[in-house]
Amino acid sequence: MKLWGGRFTKPTNQLVEEFNASITFDQELVEEDIQGSLAHVEMLGKCDILSKEEVKQIISGLKRILQRVRQGEVKFSIENEDIHMNIEKLLIDEIGAIGGKLHTGRSRNDQVALDLHLYVRKQTVALIQLLIQLQEVLFLQAEKHIDTILPGYTHLQRAQPVRLAHHLLAYASMFERDIERLIDSYKRVNTCPLGAGAIAGTTFPIDRDFVAEQLGFERIYDNSMDAVSDRDYLIEFLSICSLIMTHLSRLSEELILWSSEEFAYIELDDAFCTGSSMMPQKKNPDIPELIRGKAGRVCGHLLALFMTLKALPLTYNKDMQEDKEGVFDTVKTCTSSVQLMSEVLKTMKVKPKRMKQNVEQGFANATDLADYLVKKGIPFRRAHEMVGKMVLYCIERGKYLLDCDLAELQSFAPQIEADIFIKLDPTFVVEARKSRGGTAKAQVEKTLAEKKARLLDYTNWLTEKTVQEIETIEI
Ligand code: ARG
Repeated sequence: MKLWGGRFTKPTNQLVEEFNASITFDQELVEEDIQGSLAHVEMLGKCDILSKEEVKQIISGLKRILQRVRQGEVKFSIENEDIHMNIEKLLIDEIGAIGGKLHTGRSRNDQVALDLHLYVRKQTVALIQLLIQLQEVLFLQAEKHIDTILPGYTHLQRAQPVRLAHHLLAYASMFERDIERLIDSYKRVNTCPLGAGAIAGTTFPIDRDFVAEQLGFERIYDNSMDAVSDRDYLIEFLSICSLIMTHLSRLSEELILWSSEEFAYIELDDAFCTGSSMMPQKKNPDIPELIRGKAGRVCGHLLALFMTLKALPLTYNKDMQEDKEGVFDTVKTCTSSVQLMSEVLKTMKVKPKRMKQNVEQGFANATDLADYLVKKGIPFRRAHEMVGKMVLYCIERGKYLLDCDLAELQSFAPQIEADIFIKLDPTFVVEARKSRGGTAKAQVEKTLAEKKARLLDYTNWLTEKTVQEIETIEI
């Protein structure tokens, strides 16, 4: 007999049973479901909707079920459709008909919304934690490589030399924005939908604020119809994760390029690479490749949920059951990708000599020669052309600007003096960009210090949340 079987005269078709059920994946929400039920039943007791004795029995029944779940003793069933009805059925089996009182004043519609809010809240915190660790690794490598100079690229052509620290901190800026986005989204995730009932609220004298407070929510949904049909917070979460994956994917692409023999800027640690079944010499950067590949499916989950939601009338529609698998897969994919990226970056070996060599064998200092002439009073456009001619002259002779002698350079621009040779040196070039956010050492150090301070703020924010709001249920 189904929990909703009263008005039915036939058993459910077997194909429907399987097609309709979500228990195969929403069992992921078991902890959240029980956590929500515990708060709900406490409230029913406090508001005299259930007796103290009934509340006591339901609470201890739920905790026993949770214990059995944690010990892997519970088998969920397709017949009971989803995690909510599975738990309710288990409760009735455990404590008898009284278990049927748990669902008083509640619907699966507000229940599933609550579970998802609790789940995403927990995962948001976990993801911020992992991103903080990733930032720490980036900072560590940046500190180590403040004086390591490599070519910076535009169009994947050597453009201007940069410090490796500066390059890595560009990624730190992206992940910093991701952390900020997660923190900002938190207040919307941290809103309690329970008490909305199926759609319109409930006739019982419930206390929604009490439930919210017990579960550590900052506020409650102020419209019951919105409460059961809102999935914006999931879209937001998936979108932030898509950005995180996009950032990881771009960084992965660089690691893949840099570890190729063509670049040879880094070597990835053996523990994070794999070999080829046929070619004995191969050492492949599978982990960054997989992260790059997995970015696609996370962005796919975002789009899938958009498509699911875009034409849904208010309020709950069964289509919404489709919101879960993409979210669960995103959490799994995104958290393991962030974790692995931290390890890959921490263990990689940098080859500063090779980077320097590529800076010297190129024209990454050509802009500086043009700027030099501008400082001698030549209009930039004219200087640009003169240096262009010098570059062409060098290319035709298979050499670089610093291989020319003073007379050669002066034949293009008589204003050039002997100090040019220092000014075109990569170290000088990098140091000359003292503009805010530029490559000069003091600028990079300032940025790093500011980022560290902000990371501390995020850590403090996290500590508060973890203490106040995220506790695992004790049984
Ligand atoms: N398994 C459902 C889901 O994931 C729970 C809510 C069901 N509500 C309903 N009215 N059938 O969305």
